[in-house]
Amino acid sequence: MLIVHHTPSPNCQAMFEAVVSGATAPEIEDVRVVRRAALSATASDVLAADGFLLGTPANLGYMSGALKHFFDQVYYPCLDATRGRPFGFYVHGGNDVTGAVRGIESITTGLGWRRTAEPVTVTGEPGKADIEACWELGATVAAGLTD
Ligand SMILES: Cc1cc2nc3c(=O)[nH]c(=O)nc-3n(C[C@H](O)[C@H](O)[C@H](O)COP(=O)(O)O)c2cc1C
Repeated sequence: MLIVHHTPSPNCQAMFEAVVSGATAPEIEDVRVVRRAALSATASDVLAADGFLLGTPANLGYMSGALKHFFDQVYYPCLDATRGRPFGFYVHGGNDVTGAVRGIESITTGLGWRRTAEPVTVTGEPGKADIEACWELGATVAAGLTD
């Protein structure tokens, strides 16, 4: 499973770490988790993965430029080849993550990816329930790869 994330702050880092922790839980066997910062992830990373987890802050009403750059790079090289692969995502924001969520839903619909968990969205400092939701997100998408 490939985790592609843009993590510019401690609040985003807390969500990222919880997602990684869920995805790498010992009870999920035979899933290798690869993490890539969004600005360094490549089409080869995407083609080699069976599923994806995406994480971003909401910036200026959209996903971060870094995650958008990732999609710009991989969209056509991965179109068709990755159709139907499972994914999930999380967004951290200050007050309104709607545009970021809509943007990710739209691009992943174009790619034909299949969302296998509800998105986790958090504004402000993540609380205990938010961190647990991130853990569940990572665990759910990873566990789906073992079916
Ligand atoms: C240039 C800029 C634009 C931003 N735009 C949004 C936005 O449209 N919606 C939102 O919810 N948060 C927005 N934010 C807040 C970021 O999402 C937030 O800073 C980021 O998730 C990191 O969280 P933290 O600052 O609480 O650690 C923006 C932040 C910056 C720096």
